[in-house]
Amino acid sequence: MKPAVFVARPIPAAVEAFLREHCEVRKWDSYEPIGRDRYFAELAAVEGLITSGGLVNRELLSHAPKLKIVSNISVGYNNLDIEALRERGIVATHTPGALDETVADLVFSLILATARRVPEMDKLVRAGEWRKGDDRVLFGVDVHHKKLGIIGMGRIGEAIARRAKLGFRMDVAYHNRSRKPEVEAAYGAEYRTLPELLAESDFIVLMTPLTKDTERLIGREQFAAMKRSAIFINASRGQTVDEQAMIAALQDGTIRGAGLDVFEQEPVSPDNPLLQLPNVVVLPHLGSATTETRDAMAMLAARNLIDGLEGRTPPNVIPELRA
Ligand code: DGY
Repeated sequence: MKPAVFVARPIPAAVEAFLREHCEVRKWDSYEPIGRDRYFAELAAVEGLITSGGLVNRELLSHAPKLKIVSNISVGYNNLDIEALRERGIVATHTPGALDETVADLVFSLILATARRVPEMDKLVRAGEWRKGDDRVLFGVDVHHKKLGIIGMGRIGEAIARRAKLGFRMDVAYHNRSRKPEVEAAYGAEYRTLPELLAESDFIVLMTPLTKDTERLIGREQFAAMKRSAIFINASRGQTVDEQAMIAALQDGTIRGAGLDVFEQEPVSPDNPLLQLPNVVVLPHLGSATTETRDAMAMLAARNLIDGLEGRTPPNVIPELRA
């Protein structure tokens, strides 16, 4: 008999067909969140769960007595209670690799949009405020040949470093738990302590996963250490930054600007002061949001799930649960 699995969000038809070759598939086919009761009832009989950032905590696991594997359709996995999974001996996987280049593209679009004030200028033209004559009101700052500091040199960090070095002729500095000699050799990236990186960089990209160690990694002290001309980009998780400290730094000119794909609370509240600041570019957490990449992520998550259910070690078990 095929194992039963539950897919907690819509997935592409090709991925569903692939899953059905190996599993009995039950699914939640709406983009609206599934209600607790329905979710818990679905979990009662399944051995596998595919989710995309949905909370997997002790309470949920207590309704899933047969669960063997949770397959997350995202690279970040701060939605998973790792300790609870470990205690139950449940495998959890994520989708690194499938989205690196796409997220790096998005990070560069934030860098460029913030430096060259693209959304502000777009609004100005649409509002009929484009005047001939003194055009200094339109000026931004250059990106090429500047210094880019990357905090978190994983695969996405490396894809950003490649774009910076080869495309924009930038100097690249990075801070990471461990040194990355291959990135240093390939892109001339220089390892820095966090304070050094903050003090030297023109653009600072935060790409670190959200863990206990990185929660609020960037706060008042770190913003104060940046250049007044610095542009800060966050495409990791909102909780890696002290958002109130960032708002203050942007309001009082401690730094020049910010490009943000993530927020402490998502969706961001319309009352969030960040939305009033012209020196901030905001996006609705869409780092991996292209059709090709989201399809590839869903297929990778399906493969991870099937490997786990069929007794093979999936290639993308989250680091904390690897043997
Ligand atoms: C992820 O997959 O964790 C990223 O947030 C994509 O945007």
